[in-house]
Amino acid sequence: MKKILAFLLSACLITVSMAACSGSNSNDEADVSSDASTSSQESSDESSSGDESSKETASFTTVEEGKLIMATNATFPPYEYYDGDAVVGIDAEIAQKIAEKLGLELVISDMEFNSIITSVNQGKADMGMAGMTVTPDRLKNVNFTDTYAKGVQVVIVQENSDIKTLDDLAGKKIGVQLNTTGDIYATDEFGKDNVQQFNKATDTVLALKQGKVDAVIIDKAPAEVFVEQNEGLTLLDSSYADEDYAICIKKGNDALQDAVNQALSELIEDGTVQAIIDKYIPSK
Ligand code: ARG
Repeated sequence: MKKILAFLLSACLITVSMAACSGSNSNDEADVSSDASTSSQESSDESSSGDESSKETASFTTVEEGKLIMATNATFPPYEYYDGDAVVGIDAEIAQKIAEKLGLELVISDMEFNSIITSVNQGKADMGMAGMTVTPDRLKNVNFTDTYAKGVQVVIVQENSDIKTLDDLAGKKIGVQLNTTGDIYATDEFGKDNVQQFNKATDTVLALKQGKVDAVIIDKAPAEVFVEQNEGLTLLDSSYADEDYAICIKKGNDALQDAVNQALSELIEDGTVQAIIDKYIPSK
């Protein structure tokens, strides 16, 4: 248990930079190459406060000109889920604000959680945003922006379950979403024979209700939504590893990463990010 805690805590390398950069980015469509599949945008600090080494004007390209394609998995309320045909939630709203700051149109591409990093790396999406935890393993494949939210892993069980503490999980069937940190944690701690993986977070909860698994390990905010929406489920009091959520971007795409970080830090600094989180998670 300690092992994974340390493992996940060590992921908290990235701290939110609160650099006082005011002034909005000016986006003009300069440098549009004749290759029409990419757009090139100028983003400049008009009034840098000077405590940051003055950056050269960075130009970034996106997969589709004028668009910011966000890969996500919309089975994860309150971060991303469907309201009718629209993907809504904390991530969707923060991404919308980032896109606005960059002068881009946000396009949300819903896929399996397990496909998000691949999709970013294959140039099908500009960024992955999915309540995604920064982990050392993921950092080998992809870069992360600054952190914008915190998560913690918790355990959902049936109200009448004999599982009362984390220790009671030994030998039980644990449902997880494939390749999430809950999966990594459960598999590491209890062995893969005791873990059942699902593509959708919502399906872990369905399996729990149907008695196909004895417990679900998942991030706290979605766990609370699922418990509220499904009678007969409850959370164990104790929780697992603390985690940091960030946006993943293809390695080497530093210009886009810098631009997203700049937008994110402005949105954190002016309270927009917290207001969005508070709207979806009222008591926090
Ligand atoms: N925070 C966990 C992770 O990064 C779970 C994220 C699941 N997100 C989702 N949109 N289904 O592994």
